[in-house]
Amino acid sequence: MDLLIKGGTIVTAKESFAADVAVKDGKIVAIGKDLPFEAEKVVDASGRLVLPGALDVHTHMAMPFGGTVSADSYLSGTRAAACGGVTTIFDYPVQHKGQTILGLCGEKNDVLEKEACVDYAFHCCITDLNGGAILDEMEEAVKKGITSFKCFLVYKKENMMVDDATLTRLLLRAKELGAMINVHAENPDLIDLYTEKFLKEGKTSAWYHYLSRPEFVEAEADKRAVHWASHLETPIYIVHMADKEGLEACIKAKEEGHKVYVETCPQYLEFTCDVYKREDGRNFICSPPMKGKESQDALWKALKAGYIDTVATDHCPFQSYEKDWGKDDFTKVPNGCAGVENLYPYMLDAANSGKLSFERVVELCSTNPAKIFGCENKGSIAIGKDADIVIYDKDKDFTISVSNMHSDYDHTIWEGKELHGYPVQTYLRGKLVYDNGEYVGNPGDGKYIKRKAAK
Ligand code: URP
Ligand code: ZN
Ligand code: ZN
Repeated sequence: MDLLIKGGTIVTAKESFAADVAVKDGKIVAIGKDLPFEAEKVVDASGRLVLPGALDVHTHMAMPFGGTVSADSYLSGTRAAACGGVTTIFDYPVQHKGQTILGLCGEKNDVLEKEACVDYAFHCCITDLNGGAILDEMEEAVKKGITSFKCFLVYKKENMMVDDATLTRLLLRAKELGAMINVHAENPDLIDLYTEKFLKEGKTSAWYHYLSRPEFVEAEADKRAVHWASHLETPIYIVHMADKEGLEACIKAKEEGHKVYVETCPQYLEFTCDVYKREDGRNFICSPPMKGKESQDALWKALKAGYIDTVATDHCPFQSYEKDWGKDDFTKVPNGCAGVENLYPYMLDAANSGKLSFERVVELCSTNPAKIFGCENKGSIAIGKDADIVIYDKDKDFTISVSNMHSDYDHTIWEGKELHGYPVQTYLRGKLVYDNGEYVGNPGDGKYIKRKAAK
């Protein structure tokens, strides 16, 4: 054997049990008590949890956005991922008019091949159908393992928005191909209306970012997205769910048997819109914004009840000087915050403090994302799966600070957050890439994950 992890407690989405894990050629080949194998490397995991690596299915690395480019390169972003127990990231390349899916993802792949510290996949953001050619190309993209596509119902002025007809055509095409459409749901016209009004009134602080896109602005678009998916009988995946009313519409659709998948993010679970009243409120500007306590409570309740399918980060950090562009005008703040290194530790801390079970956290951060997005070899500690393994110390206290993160940004909204329990090692297909605070892998370790469509 190449690796034997002995004496830990394995956690899957269904159960936890004491067993050893044996790894050969990057795969889990045996699980059991007191495995009798010799191995090149033996790890004593007694007293520790042995978890599948997380999949952060929502990241924006090196993304041109808000007049700049998000602060983490593919290298630094995936390095940070590894150090937070994330062994697969999904990136969101954004199509510009005329670009093809394979051309765009191919360009990104050329960089990732050299830089990726964890495995990676693409959800391609479609902004223009190129006269219908994109609908044809989707078939080829699906064959190459790009089985999900994103539609922005916002960012009209940024030329990233799709109209309802385009969304409908994409949903129907995805249904034919067994692909998934991911939706960023907010109403652009309401946002523009409020933004214009506030700017005219000289209301320019970060608080007005929230007030220009409050709960009902997100809810309207959530409901519209759910409406289309339910009536067209197509699956849909709503990204970064942050509001109660929209969430309730998704829950209702789920209960009626529609394939509506819901993702939320740690920032919506931890912060409320009150952060926008802070002096540094601009650093928390992301879209959709954090909402009120009622929405936050609804998200936690739905997480516990099983109505939320995944937790991912929407990792899209910007440097302080870029956030400062909007000191006196919230519309000039690049939207997005950091999170990829905090996802698993944050959610596992919630398990450690009894808010959720460890099994549920594994389900939300690893098993479900792998299943929903067709990563057959990921998402569980099971024989035949990739040996993407996180060793977690339930007793290790950790305080998040920009100085102990492994990204390239210069500040984090998570500064000072105290966690009880922390990952101590991450293995990517059997290779140790994170060891007690240090990144120990090599850029280029990560591989493209060719995903399987639902049919
Ligand atoms: O504010 C955010 N979320 N920035 C990244 C782009 C997006 O909308 O997901
Ligand atoms: Zn978004
Ligand atoms: Zn996003």
